[in-house]
Amino acid sequence: MTQTHKKLFIKTWGCQMNVYDSNRMTDILSGLGYQTTDTPEDADMMILNTCHIREKATDKVFSELGRLREHKDKKEKEQGGKVLVAVAGCVAQAEGDFILQRAPYVDMVFGPQTYHELPEMVLKADGAQRIINTEFPDISKFDHLPKEHTIEGAAAFLSIQEGCDKFCTFCVVPYTRGAEYSRSVKEILDEAHRLVEAGALEITLLGQNVNAFHGTGPDGSTWGLAELIRAVAEIDGVKRIRYTTSHPRDMDDDLIAAHGEIEKLMPFLHLPVQSGSDKILKLMNRKHKADLYRDVVARLRKARPDLAFSSDYIIGFPGETEEDFEATMQLARDIGYASCYSFKYSARPGTPAANMQGLVADHIASERLTRFQSLINEQQYAFNKNCAGLTMPILFDKKGKKPGQISGRSPYNQSVYAQANERLIGHIIYVKISEGFENSLTGDIMEEKTDL
Ligand code: SAH
Ligand code: SF4
Ligand code: F3S
Repeated sequence: MTQTHKKLFIKTWGCQMNVYDSNRMTDILSGLGYQTTDTPEDADMMILNTCHIREKATDKVFSELGRLREHKDKKEKEQGGKVLVAVAGCVAQAEGDFILQRAPYVDMVFGPQTYHELPEMVLKADGAQRIINTEFPDISKFDHLPKEHTIEGAAAFLSIQEGCDKFCTFCVVPYTRGAEYSRSVKEILDEAHRLVEAGALEITLLGQNVNAFHGTGPDGSTWGLAELIRAVAEIDGVKRIRYTTSHPRDMDDDLIAAHGEIEKLMPFLHLPVQSGSDKILKLMNRKHKADLYRDVVARLRKARPDLAFSSDYIIGFPGETEEDFEATMQLARDIGYASCYSFKYSARPGTPAANMQGLVADHIASERLTRFQSLINEQQYAFNKNCAGLTMPILFDKKGKKPGQISGRSPYNQSVYAQANERLIGHIIYVKISEGFENSLTGDIMEEKTDL
């Protein structure tokens, strides 16, 4: 029997794949009569979709669960009925049993590959069974997801690939998400069409290792990411395409060429490298050297001269000396990023790096991270300042921080703020950039001609 008018609260941590998964959970649960709410106080179901990538992840989940439990107890006492609490995502996958043991009020624990079974899980949990569902099923969740997209905006995510077989020595993803899997081209294109119907202008193709994509094409042959991007670009309503996250080793010639050929493919690429030291890259099992990364970036820039880059770096990996760190600084100087994430190494139980010798003292790692981040901040500020005076198409997707302001993204993925009517949200508008700041740009609406 379908329930009606129930409220669902979802809090999401982690990568864009988790955002995609949370949206799909919302779609599934809307079929059971749940509508989303931003306030856990009045929710009938609360889901924490969690990330396990760095330490303290589990602590964060438990402290949030403590808060949710208060809402659950209060609502059940005052209004009767049952409020379901669920932990989903990568912490659930890695520490499911522990969560059930330590938090008796949690009703459901399920990993990233089993949430399509939510209808059965909800039924059982409503009947007072506690659920743990952290298998890696033989049949992909994608075969079972609903066709409706309830909450997509103008910039939508589309998962095309899941999991990872690379086993970088620091990383939990191969364990939490499982083995690499690519969806079929037909399934992806059908979903892209549905996203456009739901209002998407930009589609970001997602995967933990998105450029390792090797999906079955309509004719039975295997397609790579470049072929897929070409096919998505042929969909009229799609105005912008991005993809993330890539591995430097999977950046093949066809994909590099695509950056020069496909106008809808945005000139911004997130290409994590993790370190500039070959010794550390080897210890990380990245299977490439710093020069391969330099070469890939150079070839991409040749194909698309204005391509802007971002990356991920880990600072203070076991064995990192001052010399290794200097090689990392040098690589970042050589590339010149538009933006970049950097993290202090965090040992993850069960990963090979957690048992490595040569731990870097915390104060040294912190000091290096500060130096690295100030280099990146300078690069980002310089990149943003250089944009002043340019006119760019901006995809506005939400209200800005100040009254009368709206906010969107430039082709280079910068945040752009403009004073403009809210009705421009959900459209691509030409904006003349007035000023570049450290973390954003401001600009003036040039013409209200929308969507290119
Ligand atoms: N699939 C992507 C990244 C997945 S995780 C890739 O291959 O690059 C996102 C980022 O978190 C990583 O790029 C890495 O920089 C960081 N990260 C992963 N494990 C980490 C750890 N144990 N300590 C610190 N940072 C980590
Ligand atoms: Fe993790 Fe490495 Fe796979 Fe990226 S490529 S998800 S860092 S194991
Ligand atoms: Fe985190 Fe899982 Fe994504 S560990 S980064 S949510 S794949």
